[in-house]
Amino acid sequence: MMSRTILFPSGKPEQKETLAEYRRRGGYDGYCWAVTHDGAAAVIEQITQARLRGRGGAGFPTAQKIALCAQAEGRHKYVVVNGGEDEPGSFKDRTLLEYTPHAVLEGALLAAFAVGANQVIFYTNEGYTEARERIWEALEEARMAGFLGDEILGTNFSIDADTKAAPTPYVAGEDTAVLEALEGREPKPRPKPPYPVTAGLNGQPTLVNNVETLANIPPIIRYGPEWYRRIGTAESFGTMLYSLNEEWANPGVYELPYGATEGELVKLAGGLKSGAPLRAILHGGPSSAFLLPNPDRVLSPESLRAENSSIGCGVTRAYGESTCMMDVALDIARFFAKECCGQCPACRMETSNIATILEKVLLGQAPALMLDQIPKLLEFNKGKGYCSLINMPGPPLLSAMKLFPEDFEAHLKTGSCPTK
Ligand SMILES: Cc1cc2nc3c(=O)[nH]c(=O)nc-3n(C[C@H](O)[C@H](O)[C@H](O)COP(=O)(O)O)c2cc1C
Repeated sequence: MMSRTILFPSGKPEQKETLAEYRRRGGYDGYCWAVTHDGAAAVIEQITQARLRGRGGAGFPTAQKIALCAQAEGRHKYVVVNGGEDEPGSFKDRTLLEYTPHAVLEGALLAAFAVGANQVIFYTNEGYTEARERIWEALEEARMAGFLGDEILGTNFSIDADTKAAPTPYVAGEDTAVLEALEGREPKPRPKPPYPVTAGLNGQPTLVNNVETLANIPPIIRYGPEWYRRIGTAESFGTMLYSLNEEWANPGVYELPYGATEGELVKLAGGLKSGAPLRAILHGGPSSAFLLPNPDRVLSPESLRAENSSIGCGVTRAYGESTCMMDVALDIARFFAKECCGQCPACRMETSNIATILEKVLLGQAPALMLDQIPKLLEFNKGKGYCSLINMPGPPLLSAMKLFPEDFEAHLKTGSCPTK
């Protein structure tokens, strides 16, 4: 039967893998072959053919970024493994680093070889103590095996790797804020251009990729892009890791091919822990749009985009029938107001005003027309920040107001939840 998974053989994390175990399933074969035979251009070509897209949220074509970084001039080049992962509910990057750190490392080494970098930096959430220990073990094992260090496998390719703790603000995972943090400053996004691929860490070309994206590279190189493209839909290839949290009966990380249905995911999740029927589902985390549950919904970037939502980085949240969606919307608005780094006036004004409006609506202290200000604020401020945080409250808030107007109206009129 055709494989339906790429990162976890059984579709979920089972055992914490050592180098020997990773080698037994072909680990580092692609790296060794690429470094000694195929060369950097072939690695880029294979990732291009596989049409790998980033798993950090935006879905940018990975080969395009790698090719730009490879072409860029610089004294040094860097690869940053982005494991900032402060998106609420996401823990798939931590899981990958803890369970299969060599898959991530091999992906980062292949990317470094492809762009001509000599330094890999694992930038991981400062709370991820175990993940960082697993990376250190993996780096040591890789060094002993000759995959890391000077003149790899007798070639002129030399590469080193290290770890750096990512500060906790959400925005510290944005790729230019990552660079600021690595340079010892507050993690605040930079205006773009220039993009990190041409002027990144210390002004040098830098490839910043998500942990899961990089973990997809070794199987592409090992088995070839045709194999990779057999998994997924006609437009999106490979798999996606879904982070399911405590509201589900079976929380955990699950790997499913693009094109799996919502029904399949909900079945793996065992439904809500409370046993309540679902009222709403949120694929893609807090910057995505709420949807009404639909077991036949296809989970792929294109199908969720067609519903004005997104697959984001795979966090799937669920809300039972007694959930007040006005409460949920306010939590999200408060999250963005708290996480706005404050340097772009439009973002600061938008996120704090929206949270204030919803707080007033919640308590029944707002005139009815106040809710109409939210779409206007979002529209007016679109794109007016250094990063996309300014656009993030739009999809969840507008979809909650559209799908569950009765919750907002009840709060406007009575200051209390209609569902309780
Ligand atoms: C506010 C904000 C937070 C982000 N946090 C993360 C993060 O924790 N991890 C991540 O990989 N990408 C994060 N991103 C996206 C990165 O800027 C970047 O697009 C990503 O690391 C690129 O990797 P990919 O192409 O492999 O997906 C964030 C973006 C924004 C705007």
